[in-house]
Amino acid sequence: MEKLMIKDTLTIIAERKSVRRFTGEQVSKENIYKILRAAMAAPAAIHMIPWKFIVLTDKIKLQTLADGLPFAKMLPGAGTGIIVCAVPKDAAMGSEEFAILDCACASENILLAAEALGLGAVWTAIYPNKESEEFVRKVLNIPSHVIPLNLIPVGYPAGDEKPKDKFDDGNIHWENW
Ligand SMILES: Cc1cc2nc3c(=O)[nH]c(=O)nc-3n(C[C@H](O)[C@H](O)[C@H](O)COP(=O)(O)O)c2cc1C
Repeated sequence: MEKLMIKDTLTIIAERKSVRRFTGEQVSKENIYKILRAAMAAPAAIHMIPWKFIVLTDKIKLQTLADGLPFAKMLPGAGTGIIVCAVPKDAAMGSEEFAILDCACASENILLAAEALGLGAVWTAIYPNKESEEFVRKVLNIPSHVIPLNLIPVGYPAGDEKPKDKFDDGNIHWENW
């Protein structure tokens, strides 16, 4: 069931949390589109666009990826996975570092958009583990010049995961304030 939530941006940011348990209800294509629009609204160095997104709903592929990745066991339960891919040749100065940075920005937007839509999501790691990168490339036929950064399961939250308060005044240095 789609939920309409109207919350301000700072509330969404504060309420975002990693969700790893899902009801199994399939997220609509419309919502995945909204999430990917948010992803592609992320900042990118010198406005180069080094990202591609693979949207996966095939149950067998979701299970294969969950079996082969150490920390993505929740993937089949979510019903949808988004693989954020970095393409260094399309990034500022053809750099892997810029491609990864830009794709990390897009990934955070995915997590925030999911939260805003009442959905649950979690960053599960592929990069920088070379073995995981190769495994995902093989399963999804991703060419060698493309780096799968992460796999983000997206679904309806089954539990009541709460945001963790990471705020620490000690991490701020007020220079000459
Ligand atoms: C680079 C990165 C890699 C992560 N890898 C995984 C992962 O493989 N599996 C997982 O369940 N969570 C993963 N996470 C999610 C973190 O565990 C989570 O963000 C952290 O515990 C803080 O919790 P929160 O997201 O609820 O604030 C990753 C997060 C980041 C930023």
